[in-house]
Amino acid sequence: MKLKWTNLGIIFFFILSLIMTGCFIWQYRLPKAKPVAEIKIEELYEEKLCPRFPEPVPLKHPIPVLMDALEKVDSLLRTSIDVKTLPAISCIVIYNDSVLWNGNFGRRNGSDPKSSPPNEYTVYRIATLSKLFPTLMLYKLWEDGEVSSLDDPIEKFVKNFTIKNPLGKAFTRNRKKQSLSSITLRRMASHLSGLPRQLRGTSLLWKGQIHEAIDLLQDDILVADPGTKCHYSNLAFSLLAHIMADKVTGTDYESWVSKNILQPLGMEDTGFDITAEIERKMAVGVYPSGQPTPLYDLGWYRPSGQMYSTTADMAKMTIVLLGAYNHGLLRVDTLKTMLTPMFHCDTSYFSNQTGTPWEVYEQLEYEIFRKDGDLDGYSAVLSLVPHLKLGLVILMAGTKPADEDLVTKSYSYLIPAMERAFRDAPHVLVPPPDPAPYIGFFTYSNMTFYEIKTGSDGVLSLQQFGPTVDGMIPLEYNIWRLSYLEERVFKVVFEKEYPCQLRIRNTSISVESQDRQLFNFYMFNENGLATGFDVPGLNTYNVMRISRRPIFPN
Ligand SMILES: *[C@@H]1O[C@H](CO)[C@@H](O)[C@H](O)[C@H]1NC(C)=O
Ligand SMILES: *[C@@H]1O[C@H](CO)[C@@H](O)[C@H](O)[C@H]1NC(C)=O
Ligand SMILES: *[C@@H]1O[C@H](CO)[C@@H](O)[C@H](O)[C@H]1NC(C)=O
Ligand SMILES: *[C@@H]1O[C@H](CO)[C@@H](O)[C@H](O)[C@H]1NC(C)=O
Ligand SMILES: *[C@@H]1O[C@H](CO)[C@@H](O)[C@H](O)[C@H]1NC(C)=O
Ligand SMILES: *[C@@H]1O[C@H](CO)[C@@H](O)[C@H](O)[C@H]1NC(C)=O
Repeated sequence: MKLKWTNLGIIFFFILSLIMTGCFIWQYRLPKAKPVAEIKIEELYEEKLCPRFPEPVPLKHPIPVLMDALEKVDSLLRTSIDVKTLPAISCIVIYNDSVLWNGNFGRRNGSDPKSSPPNEYTVYRIATLSKLFPTLMLYKLWEDGEVSSLDDPIEKFVKNFTIKNPLGKAFTRNRKKQSLSSITLRRMASHLSGLPRQLRGTSLLWKGQIHEAIDLLQDDILVADPGTKCHYSNLAFSLLAHIMADKVTGTDYESWVSKNILQPLGMEDTGFDITAEIERKMAVGVYPSGQPTPLYDLGWYRPSGQMYSTTADMAKMTIVLLGAYNHGLLRVDTLKTMLTPMFHCDTSYFSNQTGTPWEVYEQLEYEIFRKDGDLDGYSAVLSLVPHLKLGLVILMAGTKPADEDLVTKSYSYLIPAMERAFRDAPHVLVPPPDPAPYIGFFTYSNMTFYEIKTGSDGVLSLQQFGPTVDGMIPLEYNIWRLSYLEERVFKVVFEKEYPCQLRIRNTSISVESQDRQLFNFYMFNENGLATGFDVPGLNTYNVMRISRRPIFPN
């Protein structure tokens, strides 16, 4: 075991020494960056430059590569307008806590040639995007301790709830100890409950009560054993909303949403009831024939699809979901749970994974969280790329184009541009308040040797030396820069891109694992010096201080 660790140590520091070489090789080989060159982005993908997932950083606008991508989104949406089938589109792109861009196309009333274009305050029905709200309610009640577990079964709230689950019995050997899987709150919020799409014999306009729904379900049947299959269900979300309102908060669902979500976030043009005043602000929804659609009222299914909103309001929601709103609705850790995919769906399902309440897709190696809504005359999407803190909302009056997915196409422009912007943003390296405790010479078991010193900007740098390095790597290429985080803790910062895979002689090395690693220096000794350091992320411990630079034989 001991021997193995030593070997690992050698390997690590060998790798460490190669990284810097890599960085510099790269610097000299690649053409210098030109600001707006799409071809260049493609080249970079082929070269597989890392970090693969650059960290979102504050951006200094304007950023030409981003403007260029947004112009492409603009032209994509502009050309998607169809006077008859898709007369109005409003779109908004969000980065972290701010709106990057918003675009409005077509006319609010397609059959009136004098009608004005929509704007960010134009009201559209958001259909299935309404399902965000029961989900937010669930997480909020969970965060506040009013719901003790996301995995509580429905029976905990509705004592006499029953539904037939023949598929859940198939694998139970012991008939006496049957343990059926549960319809839990979380499964209801993620299309995993096995509940049918709608209550039997009802349309989305059904105007029943919760107890009538429970009664109807008594002789209904689950389409899958809960937790085993993605199956889209309006029923599940409406049941979830009404149960939480009725049994947990003791209020009415819509007033709860209004008081706890819409009002705190200032979503003034979002709601359930399409009053005459709201109607005046609306884009006119149309059937594919161009005929205006009636503004149906969904009744019991309202939590699943009734709501209307604007891009300005959806931007606020997106900023909350990206975790950047400072009076956030949910804590950051709760949001992380909400933005965790739950389940890989069968290939027959329309999304790769399901979440609460998301459909999760993959694009350019990023997870895209989406909620898409379609309801007579309107089509809407709210989408997030949490990794890039990027959000995109498109609200449409009419039928979305069948041949091209506007969100996927938009992200094919936006994602590479955001990555480019993050990579090109200047890195901020923080010098320690006092470098003295950290500078000096260190060794790992007398096998690898390091010198830590300060640069002219006061930032620490670590440089490897010794026989293993000198033979192979030009000394000046062998430096890591360490940015100060807090006392005795530093982060490795690679200021430039580097190849993900490095070929040195006949070996190939993954460089990415070294980026952003944390250095943890030991307590200061009586002379005020750190006696050594660890890099736990690389399983590296006990790199100890030595008093001076050793002299190596020959
Ligand atoms: C995102 O927004 C929050 C809130 O304004 C801010 O604290 C944070 O620094 C921002 N992050 C980036 C990467 O811009
Ligand atoms: C839209 O325009 C048509 C034609 O001018 C008009 O008949 C209709 O009432 C308008 N619809 C709305 C909701 O304003
Ligand atoms: C469940 O109980 C409620 C009242 O407690 C009643 O109204 C309802 O009909 C019952 N449903 C079933 C399925 O037994
Ligand atoms: C994701 O789903 C799409 C269809 O919706 C499919 O074409 C694609 O291969 C799936 N990708 C993965 C990684 O499963
Ligand atoms: C390195 O070697 C010297 C003498 O060769 C020895 O005194 C010292 O303890 C060794 N240091 C470590 C960290 O193994
Ligand atoms: C790489 O080359 C060294 C000698 O230069 C040899 O010992 C080693 O086996 C080679 N490794 C591979 C993976 O070919």
